[in-house]
This record gives sequence, C-alpha cells and structure tokens, in this order.
Amino acid sequence: MKKLMMIVFAVGMFGLFLSSCGEAPPKKMTVNIENGKVIYDKACIACHWKGVAGAAALTDTPRWETIAAKGMDTIHQHSITGFQGEYGVMPERGTCTACSDQDMYDAIGYMLKQAGVSAK
Ligand code: HEC
Repeated sequence: MKKLMMIVFAVGMFGLFLSSCGEAPPKKMTVNIENGKVIYDKACIACHWKGVAGAAALTDTPRWETIAAKGMDTIHQHSITGFQGEYGVMPERGTCTACSDQDMYDAIGYMLKQAGVSAK
C-alpha cells in the first residue's frame, strides 16, 4: 500500500512538473527608451526619420497607428526577419546585424513613442 502511494505521488509530481513547464508564459519584453534612441540614431534614422524608401516617418502618426495595431510581437518579428509591405522593404534588422532582439524592441518602442502611439 505504501509503495502504491509512492507511485501515485511520483506520477502526480511528474505531471505537475510537465504542466508547469508547458504553461510557462513567454517572458514579456519591456522597452528601454534610452537604448531605443541610441539604436534608432544609429540604425533606423536613415529611413524612418523622414520616411525614405517607403518607411514610416517618425512624424507619421496614422501610419504608426496602423503598424502598432498589428501588435508588438508581430512588428518586432517583422523588424528582425525583414518585411515586405505595400510601401517598400524593411530590411532584416534594418541592416543592423549587430543589433540584438532587445535592441530592435527598444528602437521600435522609441519610434512609437516619438510618433505618439502606444503599442499593444
Ligand atoms: C533601408 C531603410 C530602412 C531602415 C534602415 C529601417 N527600416 Fe524599418 N521599414 C522600412 C520600410 C520601407 C518599412 C515599410 C514596409 C511596408 O510597410 O511596406 C519599414 C517598416 C518597419 C516596421 C513596421 C513593420 C510592419 O509590420 O509593418 C518596423 C517595426 C520597423 N520598420 C522597424 C525598424 C527598426 C527598429 C529599424 C532600425 C533598427 C529600422 N526599421 C530600419 C525601411 C527601413
């Protein structure tokens, strides 16, 4: 009987272990605006300041609202992998090969803030 209890206990713990792994929520990224400005000034300004080559200009709030409506995860992903939209081509990481995923996230956060748009 004792042995059976041990097995039930062990199986239960294993199940708990599995479910806690499977359901762990993805870590939510947060924007570091100061770093975002540094990255923007270095890697995004050429296209995104005035809206060169079809990029959304920093002052183009309606455009950034449409972009933000896709959700932060989606547009972050697009900025990393590159994105072909109806206006032009957003190159992979804006050609900043040294930029990390976090750098990209921060730069997007910075641009949205400049445009006066809050992302989802
Ligand atoms: C060579 C020009 C260029 C550079 C440099 C550039 N972008 Fe872009 N980006 C574009 C263009 C063009 C689009 C618009 C694509 C479309 O919607 O047709 C765009 C769109 C985007 C979008 C919206 C994606 C979507 O899903 O609508 C994000 C976010 C973005 N850029 C972030 C960045 C960040 C961050 C940097 C700097 C690290 C950067 N871009 C640098 C050209 C550029």
